[in-house]
Amino acid sequence: MWDSLYPYFLWIENTRLGHGIRESKWTFTLSEVVHLLGLTVLLGTMLLLALRLFGFVLQKKSVASIAHELKPLSIGALGVTLLTGTLLFTSEATKCWGNIAFRYKMLFLFLALLFQFTGLQKVARAEDRRFSPLTRKVTAFVAVFLWFGVAVAGRAIAFF
Ligand code: HEM
Repeated sequence: MWDSLYPYFLWIENTRLGHGIRESKWTFTLSEVVHLLGLTVLLGTMLLLALRLFGFVLQKKSVASIAHELKPLSIGALGVTLLTGTLLFTSEATKCWGNIAFRYKMLFLFLALLFQFTGLQKVARAEDRRFSPLTRKVTAFVAVFLWFGVAVAGRAIAFF
């Protein structure tokens, strides 16, 4: 199935945008810097919410109020990271096609986004006594594991 996708990756890489990023001195570098900034804010807001769900920080504030306050920042950072990631990908799509780390990254990204907007959102929005402390800790652990999986696979792309 993956092999049949190669012509599409080649087409993406040969778009004017792909050529433009590849031929520009600075666009790839600047996109990767903004990609790193975006994922730092994204993983930072994730970690803060997880530490609250574990009961380590901000215990005077309810989980729901912290999740509500962090949401614009994490959604904004997610948008920036997805946009810059797509730019980076467009410039080297066939390299990503042949890169096992990229495949794992897209799998982790799919699972992280799915869990973010289902399990984590449900537990984070609920009033504090609705879910047991164990359920909240497991939810936090799964969310952090999936998002750091994206980051580790993203870093690994350069080594495979
Ligand atoms: C939203 C969650 C994402 C996270 C946490 C993330 C994380 C990372 C990390 C840690 C790196 C390594 C940066 C470095 O080595 O300097 C990276 C690079 C990269 N990411 Fe992402 N990324 C995300 C989304 C995406 C998306 C959606 C795509 C493409 C569709 C993408 C494509 C890339 C590419 C092509 C690179 C450069 C790899 C290279 O040539 O070294 N990323 N990402």
